[in-house]
Amino acid sequence: MKADLNSIQRLVLKAAETARRETADEPEPEKPKKPKWPITCTVGPGLEGAIACESKVGYVNGAKGWLVYRGYNIFDLCAYSTFEEVSFLLLNGRMPKKAELDLFKRKLLSYARMNEIIMHLMGFPIERMSVMGALRLGTNLMRTEFRDLDMASARPAPSEAISADEDSIAMETLPSGSDHATFEFKSRLSRAAAKAQRGFDKPSGLEDSCHLIAGISCIAAAASRIHNGKLPLAPQADLSFAGNLIYMITGRRPSPVEERVMDIALILHADHGMNASTFATMVVASTLADIYFSAGAGIAALSGPLHGGANEEVLRNLREIKTVANVKPWVARKLAQKGKVSGFGHRVYKAYDPRALILGPLAGLLVKEKPELKPLYAVAQELEKTVLNTFGKEKKIFPNVDFYSGLVYSSLGFDDELFTPMFAASRVSGWTARVLEYMENNRIFRPRGLYIGEFNKRYIPLAERT
Ligand code: SDX
Repeated sequence: MKADLNSIQRLVLKAAETARRETADEPEPEKPKKPKWPITCTVGPGLEGAIACESKVGYVNGAKGWLVYRGYNIFDLCAYSTFEEVSFLLLNGRMPKKAELDLFKRKLLSYARMNEIIMHLMGFPIERMSVMGALRLGTNLMRTEFRDLDMASARPAPSEAISADEDSIAMETLPSGSDHATFEFKSRLSRAAAKAQRGFDKPSGLEDSCHLIAGISCIAAAASRIHNGKLPLAPQADLSFAGNLIYMITGRRPSPVEERVMDIALILHADHGMNASTFATMVVASTLADIYFSAGAGIAALSGPLHGGANEEVLRNLREIKTVANVKPWVARKLAQKGKVSGFGHRVYKAYDPRALILGPLAGLLVKEKPELKPLYAVAQELEKTVLNTFGKEKKIFPNVDFYSGLVYSSLGFDDELFTPMFAASRVSGWTARVLEYMENNRIFRPRGLYIGEFNKRYIPLAERT
């Protein structure tokens, strides 16, 4: 049966039904309220459990397997919305009207026509650089494309810097800290007055965010084509963001089904709470560094295998397992080695990652047209069943976003090395949305490290150190 766009929508809504059924027994979580800072929370190493800020951008509930962007649940967004509309929503906090969405799409397309940047990029040894490395280089080249960010005039005013770093809780005191600020800038301007003094009501962010959303996709596609000995391609005016991404990577215009699946994959990866790369972008932005440097920090964080790249490892595992019959012995060996099965488990989700519930059937849809991937999909389904039945259900280890995303991208004709850059191409919407939101009430991130070292050591001159 040839899939069509209606069957994709039905598949997403069916996944929503499955998610609801799977976690029906979980109690409804209390809706978080605006906190009165400072707050108390239990914090583990790596800031696990720490609440770093309040946000209206996105919400993840691990027990219920919920993912919400600006109040809309991810299943509705995947069934009815597009990546452009979701990016507008994340950045602006509301759905666009038609004219606004058309303008936003035109803006993304105009920024995607970045021939000069791509030309500069080709002057570097991209063939010896990972695509993630090329993204870091490309976002730096983008910094000065249409903004003079390195000119003295672009630097934030000192008053802005001070107003950006509000009251502080006692630092380097006993772990419990003190429950109120040790000092307050008595004479500081009120936030509104500081904003008025700055003369603009939003940091230089919305335009730069659109520039980055358009640019990261183009640079990833260009770097991938250069790796394959081909010239980069400019976007086509009549293709959507998702359609152009497939076209700029593969050189062919995608089918409507492929375009819609890519669109949904981009929606699914757009935001996910305070994950490592989002936190990295916010930390850099909180120092009043510009949003291009912030996105560069996010790209760097995502390039680490503990955050990005598990979907590449999943495909390697599926190819290694090869057949359904090999799945059980493979899992047994993995467990005996106390290894972790890539694509499973999550720091937050203790139910099915809703993104896996959608990406799994989408992969199944695409592989029908790709005979060489059908066996891998069968292995993936058997692996999912085996992991859940051996330890997954008991330890609440379920497939995460990375388990099926590699099969989806492979079906679209993408090389494995593009999987994490596709994550960045989408997550830049969540990165920039959270940076813009945080800059409204900026507070430079400065957690504490609990010193457990020695004191009062006597200095011994070098000559006496045997
Ligand atoms: C993303 O932060 C985000 O939101 C990230 C992300 C995003 O959108 O930005 O969602 C993207 O999550 C990608 C993650 C992809 N990584 C992988 O698929 C790599 C494999 N996953 C694991 O590395 C692991 O599941 C983590 C790191 C994701 C979570 O590890 P935790 O926090 O240790 O998991 P846990 O505390 O729930 O573990 C409970 C038990 C432990 O065993 P015991 O010590 O109790 O014996 O389950 C085990 C873990 O060892 N376990 C696994 C496992 N994951 C956890 N055992 C086998 N295979 C796994 N994948």
